[in-house]
Amino acid sequence: MCGIVGYIGDKPAVDILIDGLQRLEYRGYDSAGVAIVNGGLSVEKKQGKVKGLSDTINRAELQGTLGIGHTRWATHGRPNDVNAHPHTNSTGKFAIVHNGIIENFTALKEKLITKGYSFESETDTEVLAHLIDDIQKNTMLPIEEAVRQALTQVVGTYGLAMVSADDPDTLIAARKGSPLIIGVGENEYFLGSDAAPLIEHTRQVVYLNDGEMAVITRGGYQVKSIDNVPLEKEVHELEWDLEQIEKHGYEHFMFKEIMEQPESLENCMRGRISIQDNDVHLGGLIDSLDTLLAADRIIICACGTSWHAALVGEYLIEGLARIPVEVEYASEFRYRNPILREGDVVIVISQSGETADTLAAVHEAKRQGVPVYGVCNVVGSTIARETDAGVYLHAGPEIGVASTKAFSAQVMVLTLIALKLAKGRTLSEAEFATYLNAVVEIPDKIREVLLLDEEIQGLARVYRYASNFLYLGRGFNFPVALEGALKLKEISYIHAEGYPAAEMKHGPIALIDRFMPVVFLAMKDSTYSKVLANIEEVAARQGSAIAITDNGMEIERLCEYVIKIPRTEEFLTPLLAVVPLQLMSYHIAVMRGCNVDQPRNLAKSVTVE
Ligand code: G6P
Repeated sequence: MCGIVGYIGDKPAVDILIDGLQRLEYRGYDSAGVAIVNGGLSVEKKQGKVKGLSDTINRAELQGTLGIGHTRWATHGRPNDVNAHPHTNSTGKFAIVHNGIIENFTALKEKLITKGYSFESETDTEVLAHLIDDIQKNTMLPIEEAVRQALTQVVGTYGLAMVSADDPDTLIAARKGSPLIIGVGENEYFLGSDAAPLIEHTRQVVYLNDGEMAVITRGGYQVKSIDNVPLEKEVHELEWDLEQIEKHGYEHFMFKEIMEQPESLENCMRGRISIQDNDVHLGGLIDSLDTLLAADRIIICACGTSWHAALVGEYLIEGLARIPVEVEYASEFRYRNPILREGDVVIVISQSGETADTLAAVHEAKRQGVPVYGVCNVVGSTIARETDAGVYLHAGPEIGVASTKAFSAQVMVLTLIALKLAKGRTLSEAEFATYLNAVVEIPDKIREVLLLDEEIQGLARVYRYASNFLYLGRGFNFPVALEGALKLKEISYIHAEGYPAAEMKHGPIALIDRFMPVVFLAMKDSTYSKVLANIEEVAARQGSAIAITDNGMEIERLCEYVIKIPRTEEFLTPLLAVVPLQLMSYHIAVMRGCNVDQPRNLAKSVTVE
């Protein structure tokens, strides 16, 4: 959360920064700001979206080829103009943008106040600006050394960028806990909190690691550890291109990403399924397969939508491969002193590969000496780099804050892992072949589901004014019920709850009346007749039952709406069933006038605790 962008080169910085912020807006949209070195230092910042800033800044005053920018997701201090980044020292000589939380900012602030510093904002970042100023004033050190010394006094996390009017040829960046990437161009360098603002300028990038600082000049860059040890950094090539981060005529990224799922799943499966050899190949886990096969227990940690994919993974791996699985919220796992033993394997799932709690779960597994594997979408992300091995989703960039195509790709990767672990152990060659063929058919079946879009729009029109929703599913589709409810909450602000269908009688049934739509995931599987009984119970209490089903007739009698999806193997039904729920949430949110790509208070990548 919070987007950072920086530029040093021979082009005017301001438009590069504004474009970069626009591409980074999914990381936070409480305020936006830029600082440009132009003989002096000019700072423009404003509450609200980047567009607001872009429309009001005076570009003539912002001529300069060195600058930094920030789009904020507020942690300390309300979203307003004053708390917006960049923050400057009292003389306005240098400016800082920051992502993360300075945990000891109150103590540092008090100390600085006794030294005569006054504060304009409520942010922790302003403390850093004054702290660096204080060090520099007293020591006359070069700016990068003053920054380095300041950072040694800081407890907490930061991804920061800084420019100073006194050093018109230097951009400083430092990282601890919040990602930063240097983009290497021809006689120009870029900085980004992720790759999105860099892609249109360069594919060559350098990932900063925790505890590293970069001093970028017009002639090159040098990376050092915070302890001042120079480091050799590898230059990596970005996988994604500009094409993939454009809307291509779609009104919203979320809709584009829902519609892209057949292709994103094909990309996710590409090279990994061999019908001819009747096998699954997961290159990233090739050396870890024996460890996984020998595991006594697999613990999957994740947050948000990725946690829902993890729950599907539990059903998949236990159901197909018969290896015990536990699923944990990464935020709980990291703090409850979990017991890990020899024979345990931890898998973490994260679209961004940057979620702070999930990364902390990686560290906890490592601390306890347990192998930890990652399932990430963003290549080169921190979690991808810090895990022992893993599988990339290859779903392409996901820009919409509400995750859609990453969820289906996560479920697909977990399906492939489960099948690989089951092959030759719990599944015969013939069973495996049947299942593999069913997997290959999934993208086309999703294409069929996507054709229901108009029908689902009609459904959305009917229910758009509801204030509450219930989502019920069993077995493989219980996590899908949770995901459906989360999607609706996230983007339409309608209160929604997901439950295992049988739990309805233990509480949620009390809520049911004619104003309560209840969405059932009713697949013709081992639990179908039970779910049907639950629908009867809702209908008897005048609730509006909506069913997503691969079955017919009797369910139509009981439900107000029935969305029919194609049949597949039971363990693959989440991949089809989630799509109508994504579409329904999307259309309801659009009809309610909500900003689906940037829902209030949310951020795509939660890099603070
Ligand atoms: C945020 C996003 C969610 C996402 C969750 C986990 O809350 O808004 O869409 O599911 O973080 O993110 P990750 O990148 O770790 O999958």
